[in-house]
Amino acid sequence: MRGAATFANSVAVFLVSVTAGLTVAVPVEDSRPISRSQLTSRQETTTPWTGPRYVDYGRCTKDTPSKIYTGCDSEPVTQPLDRKRKVAYWSAYDAVNPDYDDPFDPTLLDDLTHLILFSVNMSAFEDNKPLTWTHSEWKFPTDIFKIARDKGISVSAAFGGWDMDQQYKRMNTSMDGELMGNRIAKFAMDNNLDGIDLDHEYPYENQKDAWIAMIETIKLNAPDKTLSVAVPAVPVYEPAEDAPPKQKVLDGYRAMLKQVEPKIDFINLMTYDMINRDNGGRLASHHSSLEGFQRTIDAYEAMGVEKYKMNLGFANYAKWFSVADDKCDQPGHLGLNCTLATPLTEVNSGAFRFRYLMNFQPEYNRTGEGLQEWNKKWTSFNATIGIEITEKIDATYNSTAMANSAYDDVAELFWTWQSPFAVTESCKALRDTGIGGVMNYGLGQDTVDKVHHDALFKHCVGDWNKGL
Ligand SMILES: *[C@@H]1O[C@H](CO)[C@@H](O)[C@H](O)[C@H]1NC(C)=O
Ligand SMILES: *[C@@H]1O[C@H](CO)[C@@H](O)[C@H](O)[C@H]1NC(C)=O
Ligand SMILES: *[C@@H]1O[C@H](CO)[C@@H](O)[C@H](O)[C@H]1NC(C)=O
Ligand SMILES: *[C@@H]1O[C@H](CO)[C@@H](O)[C@H](O)[C@H]1NC(C)=O
Ligand SMILES: *[C@@H]1O[C@H](CO)[C@@H](O)[C@H](O)[C@H]1NC(C)=O
Ligand SMILES: *[C@@H]1O[C@H](CO)[C@@H](O)[C@H](O)[C@H]1NC(C)=O
Repeated sequence: MRGAATFANSVAVFLVSVTAGLTVAVPVEDSRPISRSQLTSRQETTTPWTGPRYVDYGRCTKDTPSKIYTGCDSEPVTQPLDRKRKVAYWSAYDAVNPDYDDPFDPTLLDDLTHLILFSVNMSAFEDNKPLTWTHSEWKFPTDIFKIARDKGISVSAAFGGWDMDQQYKRMNTSMDGELMGNRIAKFAMDNNLDGIDLDHEYPYENQKDAWIAMIETIKLNAPDKTLSVAVPAVPVYEPAEDAPPKQKVLDGYRAMLKQVEPKIDFINLMTYDMINRDNGGRLASHHSSLEGFQRTIDAYEAMGVEKYKMNLGFANYAKWFSVADDKCDQPGHLGLNCTLATPLTEVNSGAFRFRYLMNFQPEYNRTGEGLQEWNKKWTSFNATIGIEITEKIDATYNSTAMANSAYDDVAELFWTWQSPFAVTESCKALRDTGIGGVMNYGLGQDTVDKVHHDALFKHCVGDWNKGL
């Protein structure tokens, strides 16, 4: 109880500091790149943490390195704050596929400023033990940190992730947040990470105190680590008033992001999955589109996030959904606005990584034939040129949405994705609006010819930092 009371006092101090920080904030409508001096003056206004101190620091020593991979084999990399960010996640899920018996292709990292390894096992939190990396069979090259850092790339670990964030779901007090923050900081220090990326999908409103405490504790115990947060896009459909809390993906952030924003270096907008399984019975729409990007940027700006802290996210996969019987009788629309099936489940909807057959599940029988047919088409089209080629497979590029869709009338499936052309166009449309960077989810999910990767990192933002 004593700890909790002390903490309440420190929260009050923090609130004051936020107010002070905002007085020198760059106006949100200012779309020019932010200068280093602006950043510095802004940071200096942050009042130092005066709350409880934690002594459970981790250390990067020869004795502690993980047997799997660790940053202890190389020197930390800090990216300048005024440099545009090119961020990519690399998920352990994409390291277990048999396809990955090939050695990792280090050229994939060439255009990045930040790599985020998505491979922390948070289960140990339950047993009050330090966090660990996932099993050794979920493997990255053991020298992944060194490979990336030799290219000047800052390496973070993602804490959480879809279905890997159960431990966050149980935190609802400041004390819970302190415990979590302490674990995360310790892991980051032990492994000599450059940064910490929080992937809680997604906080509820009643987790506000826990979240604020978590962030404060991380900044206290791992002060030099870059701190980033992965946040959801604004969905195509606002959740119903009586929807379960898990569908109200933005409510938690709306409740507390403004308060923690000054402590966060950047946020990764997960600007995809804007239509998903919660949308059964609604109309088919693009899961990633220009209007969705803009809507999401606007929403986070309204929550107090400065534009230069936002990285616009691009997914290396298509989403597919069954449409309801007899609800797609509009020829020429190629599925857009068709009514989606209810309920949408793992059997009649899903994600399809661009990487050939990577996510193919032959047991999905209801649509199996259609999917197999689609796979053949997918892998035979020339992804480099988007529009022309997709016409051949009865798909369409929508130049307003800057997104692609297709309708498979045999399997009654709506498909939505961004072709390389769509990626470049939508990225270019938003590149100079003052956003701080782009993010890709994720490495290892792209087509073998890596055209989506290049569309983003070479064709759109390749020359972003020239002249800075
Ligand atoms: C995560 O850690 C728990 C023990 O805390 C273990 O049982 C589980 O197998 C681990 N999972 C992975 C994917 O490493
Ligand atoms: C916090 O979680 C516990 C256990 O799940 C629950 O009993 C309690 O009501 C929650 N408190 C708040 C403030 O949501
Ligand atoms: C889809 O619905 C939207 C909103 O009702 C409408 O503006 C648009 O024209 C429709 N598009 C198609 C292709 O039916
Ligand atoms: C799924 O398809 C396979 C191959 O066509 C068939 O053997 C199997 O019986 C089907 N399963 C169901 C549940 O329909
Ligand atoms: C794909 O299109 C590009 C651009 O037109 C062309 O250079 C390339 O040769 C094509 N690839 C294949 C496999 O047809
Ligand atoms: C293109 O996308 C926009 C925005 O989602 C939508 O309103 C419009 O109906 C689409 N056009 C066609 C021809 O599908």
